[in-house]
Amino acid sequence: MPEANATLIHGDAADMACIGPGEAQLVITSPPYFPPELVAQFSGSRRRQSDLEGTWRHIETFAASLSPVFSEIARIVGRTGICCIETKDVVYGDFRLPLSALHASLARGHGLWTRCSLHFRSTGIKPAHLPNFVLRPACGNFRTLDTSTLLICSHPRWRSRRSTPMKLDRTTSLGLIEPYWRLTPARHLRIHEHQSPPDLIRRMIELFSLPGDLVVDPFAGSGQVLRIARELQRRSVGYERDLARHDAAWSLLVGRSIQTGAAGADRAVRISRA
Ligand SMILES: C[S@@+](CC[C@H](N)C(=O)[O-])C[C@H]1O[C@@H](n2cnc3c(N)ncnc32)[C@H](O)[C@@H]1O
Repeated sequence: MPEANATLIHGDAADMACIGPGEAQLVITSPPYFPPELVAQFSGSRRRQSDLEGTWRHIETFAASLSPVFSEIARIVGRTGICCIETKDVVYGDFRLPLSALHASLARGHGLWTRCSLHFRSTGIKPAHLPNFVLRPACGNFRTLDTSTLLICSHPRWRSRRSTPMKLDRTTSLGLIEPYWRLTPARHLRIHEHQSPPDLIRRMIELFSLPGDLVVDPFAGSGQVLRIARELQRRSVGYERDLARHDAAWSLLVGRSIQTGAAGADRAVRISRA
């Protein structure tokens, strides 16, 4: 059985020095969308969202501040790894801000080009709420449900390491050629407000890595990527800058709580597969 250690580091992914160039076969991650000072604006009433241009400039500046992390991602995946970026256009007032395009261009700026993308939705709408959602006021205000995007990126000269095609059953194959996925949200073990759907992570790990490979999540959040990678016998490394989130993710990984805030800023935790 291949080694499947998971390492969760409390620190900034702008420096992933413990991972060598080209050492990661897969990076799967979801970058933060906007700075904490904008969170209240996005969660508040749409009617109050009136500074479209100013908000977009703020988001662009914030995305640019993630550039050192994208530079590290490009270094660790090298020419042979794949990088999956979970992103989403965000709705502000009556407009959709093109955050997915911004993240795609950030990755491209570091030599990671989008090979393909898929869209998914992990929430539904109750039939009883439909008329209110689609037709408010009576006509002329058509809306659709927000979807998320997964960008699958690589170096332009990437070559597959698989010599033989994957064996997939018919249902899975048909599911993969459909670019719009419906996924169950992360209901159990929910510890982060923006937790990715576990099935999405599982499918990407199975598609783009082999047992024993290294899977990395630079924006680890709840640590789900590490947990699922370990279940699938992959080695994994995650970075989380926020100490409380790091500690919650660590608890999820080892299945018990730890004393929050007890550690130093440079703590690294290594656990072995149970
Ligand atoms: C969108 S959330 C990720 C959620 C994750 N996909 C999950 O399923 O739980 C982004 C996370 O990245 C962390 N973060 C932001 N900037 C970071 C950085 N430079 N280095 C490490 N972590 C960072 C934030 O604290 C946040 O928890």
